[in-house]
Amino acid sequence: MAGNRTFTMIKPGAVRNGHIGAILAHINKAGFKIVAMKYTKLSAEKAGEFYAVHKERPFYGELVEFMSSGPIIAAVLEKDNAVADFRKTIGATNPADAEPGTVRALYATSIGENAVHGSDSDENAQIEASFHFAGTDIFA
Ligand code: RTP
Ligand code: MG
Repeated sequence: MAGNRTFTMIKPGAVRNGHIGAILAHINKAGFKIVAMKYTKLSAEKAGEFYAVHKERPFYGELVEFMSSGPIIAAVLEKDNAVADFRKTIGATNPADAEPGTVRALYATSIGENAVHGSDSDENAQIEASFHFAGTDIFA
């Protein structure tokens, strides 16, 4: 089952720009079922913890500041091959490189403010889902 789930966030920039509805519709049309979802805000501390893997990268401070700059949508998605298919649906990290029609090509404004997060492995999908949701808040 873990292999069929991924975790996503609609990042603060896309929320501010009014794209929550369009992005959720895009995710549903791409075949993902939303099995958990909430509208929330990360503290700088929580954002730093979430992206701790990037602690040594030059963009870490900016990333933490941005991710805690406003509310986000956090969600768990279910589909066969969820992790890889969702990364395909959202497109490359830098929207300038993202395939036309992907979420980032449509809604990201820069590499830093790139509209959505998508887990990069089944293991991280599980860790990231647990970071935001109790098992009882996930409805398969
Ligand atoms: P994400 O984790 O948010 O889904 O993004 P990703 O896997 O496509 O990219 P990753 O390498 O994990 O980087 C995490 C986020 O850090 C920001 N970033 N900024 N300024 C830069 O050069 C730069 N590089 C990465 C992006 O917001 C990226 O999504
Ligand atoms: Mg990543």
